[in-house]
Amino acid sequence: MTKDNPSPKPKILVARAIFPEALAKLEESFEVRSNQADHVWTPEELKKELASVAGALVTGSERIDAGALSQAAKLKIVANISVGYNNFDIQAITAAGVMATNTPEVLTDTTADFGFALLMATARRVTESEHWLRAGNWLKWSIASNPLGVDVHHTTLGIIGMGRIGQGIAKRALGFDMNVIYYNRSRLSETHEKACQATYVSKEELLRTADHVVLVLPYTAQNHHTIGAKEIALMKPTATLINIARGGIVDDAALAQALKEKRLFAAGLDVFEGEPQVHPELLKLSNVVLAPHIASSTEKTRRAMVDLAIDNLSAALAGKKPPSLINEEVFKG
Ligand code: DGY
Repeated sequence: MTKDNPSPKPKILVARAIFPEALAKLEESFEVRSNQADHVWTPEELKKELASVAGALVTGSERIDAGALSQAAKLKIVANISVGYNNFDIQAITAAGVMATNTPEVLTDTTADFGFALLMATARRVTESEHWLRAGNWLKWSIASNPLGVDVHHTTLGIIGMGRIGQGIAKRALGFDMNVIYYNRSRLSETHEKACQATYVSKEELLRTADHVVLVLPYTAQNHHTIGAKEIALMKPTATLINIARGGIVDDAALAQALKEKRLFAAGLDVFEGEPQVHPELLKLSNVVLAPHIASSTEKTRRAMVDLAIDNLSAALAGKKPPSLINEEVFKG
């Protein structure tokens, strides 16, 4: 390397559109191939794009598995712009000697806020009431001829998946005088339970006793259809179900059937099996609030997620340990 002939910048891929300022920051240090048109690439296209780069910023829409990595001889890091990383085949990524990172913490409060917003909107029939109003149905104030909801305050909230976001939702519930119960793969420490005043129960007890069930667990093969027909049958017909976790955690067909038959009061869904497709039966129902996977979607938080993904990628390509490395065994510091 000389002053006139500096070593070439490492090539990186930005697989989806990001904020222009973030792209400009990357261009200072890297030769960037970016997808500002925001196409969702096919697996074949993604494989070709990964073939020549040393690092890649990807989102949950890009599946990174052995196939995607099969020509990626120079790849050192895949940096997910997302806390959930069920789009990663971690075993295959690790076998390929590639570092995998995600974006924890920066989205915890924003996502917990949204979980609570979706719970409130679902229990109090906010979107349904708006549609009712816009359709010209609001002719007079009346005691019971407008949509009647169910209470949130002084009810029992059941949280399945008690990581950072689940705990954030539990803390918000305290302000509503809710009784918080939770089920998680492993029980929280006494200190953490105390901080959110949450009681550990079995999944079955939670489903039987909660007035509102919020799902915040990561998607894994074991968690597929954590809530299906059998689990819904345990729930109170007056209960609500909120899914801000991942599509596939709930059997959407079974849920649609239960909502149609009023075996559940209502559901609030931010994530769907096979999204962006939504089960057609859900689209027909009024007792479900539907959102397009926006739990972390505030400008501040989305920028923080992109910035953390960039920090992860930059660290890895500078030979440093990325701040949120998932597969530590790959790092040769
Ligand atoms: C996350 O970060 O996991 C959000 O769901 C966005 O994918």
